Amino acid sequence: MRTPDVVPDPALPARVTVYEVGPRDGLQNEDVTLPADVKVAFVRRLRAAGLPIVEATSFVHPRWVPQLADAEEVMGALVDDAPSLPVLVPNQRGLERAIALGVRHVAVFGSATETFARRNLNRGLDDQFAMFEPVVRAAVDAGIAVRAYVSMCFGDPWEGPVPRDQVVAVGRRFADLGIDQLSLGDTIGTGTPGQVVALLDAFNAAGLPDDILAMHFHDTYGQALANAYAALRHGVTTFDASAGGLGGCPYAESATGNLATEDLVWMLHGLGIETGVDLDLLVATSQWMATQLRRPPVGRVVAALTG
Ligand code: HMG
Ligand code: MG
Repeated sequence: MRTPDVVPDPALPARVTVYEVGPRDGLQNEDVTLPADVKVAFVRRLRAAGLPIVEATSFVHPRWVPQLADAEEVMGALVDDAPSLPVLVPNQRGLERAIALGVRHVAVFGSATETFARRNLNRGLDDQFAMFEPVVRAAVDAGIAVRAYVSMCFGDPWEGPVPRDQVVAVGRRFADLGIDQLSLGDTIGTGTPGQVVALLDAFNAAGLPDDILAMHFHDTYGQALANAYAALRHGVTTFDASAGGLGGCPYAESATGNLATEDLVWMLHGLGIETGVDLDLLVATSQWMATQLRRPPVGRVVAALTG
């Protein structure tokens, strides 16, 4: 079978936005550093497969993430499609680099825990906002769309369970800066559906409705698709995923790949939910990327459709 049998659920939304993170979250954690023209081709193929948003690269310090040190070259080739291609920017230096290339959509990335803030951003939980505030203000003033990530929402490898009110407080601070979307990250993939529902309830109670939220699940413990389904039932309509299940985070112990885009799309299409994604083109893209990386894709649907 190349497509799922469709049984719609009237309680679920008619359409979902799949936010593709493979070229950024995926490639930032691969041992093989790909040439810029392969990254550009990857982004173009993902867009041609119908993905509405593709996070293209990262304007962080090249010493911190050498795999994406060619961000200028990659975005320089893709600028015509800039509104659909967000990029990570941690600070003003990152934003300046992105603006110089005509970027129209950026993402800042904060941590819900002190330890990960220090390891990933070289500053504490509070100080991270001193870095983000001017970036978000400048981007909003320039009419650039801004997403904010909160990492370690469901558990932290150094601190263990993360109190929900601590996660909500970080998300609330981002929302108060005027960001367009807040993506809640299960960076190490330990979360389970009950936690997802409880966290979404807590965000809603703090005045942040599901339509400003996106979910970003890593699949380290095999929970990502179940968690996405729980969030979908709750009312979330934007999900981050990575073609072929590429990914991880170089600064988070035990973070492996993101939820595979093909697995998410298979479930959504089976539920009769529109995504705009052509699954065959997407699978062909993940297969091609696997040959570039010289390793098989980890996503289950890609494996099933190409085996
Ligand atoms: P720092 O060392 O504190 O930076 O790093 P600084 O402001 O002190 O500057 C030091 C030097 O770096 C200066 O150069 C700056 O110009 C330069 P010098 O004067 O010494 O020659 N510099 C830069 N150069 C290029 N681009 C920049 C930049 N910024 C400073 N943007 C910093 C602070 C935030 C820069 C560093 O910690 C960093 O780059 N961190 C990035 C870590 C990262 O990318 N992690 C992976 C992404 S997060 C993730 O994957 C999680 C997510 O997927 C969600 C989830 O799963 O939960 C989003
Ligand atoms: Mg991630």
